[in-house]
Amino acid sequence: MKQDLNSILGKKPDIKFFTTPSHGGKICIKHKYYQFYKHDISETDFYGPQEALSISEKRSSEKYGTVNTKYLTNGSTSGIIASVLTCVKSGEKVLIWDKSHPCHRNACLLANANIVEYSIPLIEEWGIPSCITPENLERYLKKGDIKAVIVTSPHYEGVVSDIPKLVELCHRYGTYLIVDEAHGALYPFSGRLPLSAVNYADFTVQSLHKTAGGLNPTALLHTNTDLDIDRALSIINTTSPSYPLLASIEANIKYLNSIKGRNKIEQLIDMIQTLKAECTKVDFFESDITKIVIKKQGMTGYELSEYLYKNKIEDERANDGSVLLLTGIGTDLKKLEYLFKKLNRL
Ligand SMILES: Cc1ncc(COP(=O)(O)O)c(C=O)c1O
Repeated sequence: MKQDLNSILGKKPDIKFFTTPSHGGKICIKHKYYQFYKHDISETDFYGPQEALSISEKRSSEKYGTVNTKYLTNGSTSGIIASVLTCVKSGEKVLIWDKSHPCHRNACLLANANIVEYSIPLIEEWGIPSCITPENLERYLKKGDIKAVIVTSPHYEGVVSDIPKLVELCHRYGTYLIVDEAHGALYPFSGRLPLSAVNYADFTVQSLHKTAGGLNPTALLHTNTDLDIDRALSIINTTSPSYPLLASIEANIKYLNSIKGRNKIEQLIDMIQTLKAECTKVDFFESDITKIVIKKQGMTGYELSEYLYKNKIEDERANDGSVLLLTGIGTDLKKLEYLFKKLNRL
């Protein structure tokens, strides 16, 4: 069997390394994270990590059912930039959300693309954006010449777009669809979560570090086109990737796709469902169940956030209307019970 990343790391033969990194896998500077050295190999190293990486990515791509799945050690940010650089030429138009993550705009700047912005109506009561509908998107596409569209689905608060319809529409207009699924890395692994874009969009990025239990800033770029994504990745990436981080991505995907991992996601959904059903003190926004979005009559979102903070609970973000609490791999029953106990005391 060909070796993957986790099987080569930590198994060093007794070789004297006169290569980068100069520490050669030995602890030379003692600090809190010195264990890192043992696994910090270079791409030219003895066991051929480059080959192990491509084997590992190919296996992951088979698991996800994509044309390509690439491991990213510089977050979804780098996946968005690589996607735009791959499908957009200088001077071409890219349609982005006017409130999108800064990397969407930066990707266009790096590609020297012309930015066209779309807006999305706010769900006033909750202070959160709705999604881009096919009708809304078509109005922009009809104006012509849009080479690529970047859609954020889900938003922070778990609102998703109808990706299969948006893809069909984009392709009808000869436009590439790039989906920022940074907050939806668990979606491919449960039928009770929204539909993932990974098997539909031309490019989908997912941050493993946000909800899927990954280390900062591990992420994935999935593609379903024959375009060469490697060129763009090689332009923006270092030639000395962190193999411990890459190996953590491999292990992360294996876990999510395993029975244990899938059960963990189902347990998380069950726990939140049960606790929500028993909690009458706040209103819950209906979206991806792993994003707990709450509001309380008579309180602003900021006041609610302050109440939580005083009770040693830190939310992901708040607005005038509501508060968002993120969950994912690593959120256990104890933590959820604590949150709901405090909510029930409101
Ligand atoms: C919607 C969205 N897209 C992209 C990113 C960038 O992700 P990363 O931190 O993995 O680069 C973020 C980060 O907060 C985000 O919220």
